[in-house]
Amino acid sequence: VENGRIVVAIDGPSGSGKSSVSKAVARTLNAAYLDTGAMYRAITFSVLAEGADLNDAAAVAQAVRDAQLQISVDPDAELVQIAGQDVTQAIREPRISENVSAVATNLEARAELVRRQQEIIAANERIVAEGRDITTVVAPDADARILLTASEEARLRRRGLQLGGTQNDAQLEAQVLARDAKDSTVVNFTEAADGVMTVDSSDLDFEQTIAAVLDAVQAAKKN
Ligand code: DC
Repeated sequence: VENGRIVVAIDGPSGSGKSSVSKAVARTLNAAYLDTGAMYRAITFSVLAEGADLNDAAAVAQAVRDAQLQISVDPDAELVQIAGQDVTQAIREPRISENVSAVATNLEARAELVRRQQEIIAANERIVAEGRDITTVVAPDADARILLTASEEARLRRRGLQLGGTQNDAQLEAQVLARDAKDSTVVNFTEAADGVMTVDSSDLDFEQTIAAVLDAVQAAKKN
């Protein structure tokens, strides 16, 4: 079993398989796992629950500062809580996905969430953190920094969709692409920053993608 301090930062668009790959990598490395997207989602849940206006930037920023957000870093036990309430399932609902960009594009909200993410990373000896700005903003000094990409076709395929599929498929895909496009106005997660290794999973299955990320971690550690 590996031990000693290690921080692995993984960024990428939705549908790149980032979450399941990052979790598996964390298990292999005997490390904690931080899903930063879940934090943006939990804040969105909280703002909606309070009936606050998601378009009111000051209100959203205040909600983030006030939020009693707890997130598990156990890769085998997903748990997200807001003021003690288990919101693990609720934050995956479409109403959250549809509104989360309002939090993700709020710069004050981002600053506060980045600060909390850095605290969590500092508190864990070994950790894999994934999101959109981990390699660049949250943990630019990570031992390994990886951008996990996948072609649009591969991302569709993973959702069980097809190019030229049904109208519902097209709508769903348009929604995901629109969300990525909105988010990428504040964080660039489509190009690898200096020193960030790209793992393109388009032609890799799940196990191969995990192996490629672990190879990238080993390569980064040697540098
Ligand atoms: O990965 P996800 O779908 O759970 O992310 C939810 C939203 O949060 C999505 O709009 C991207 C955004 N996000 C972000 O801006 N920065 C992060 N570090 C993680 C997620």
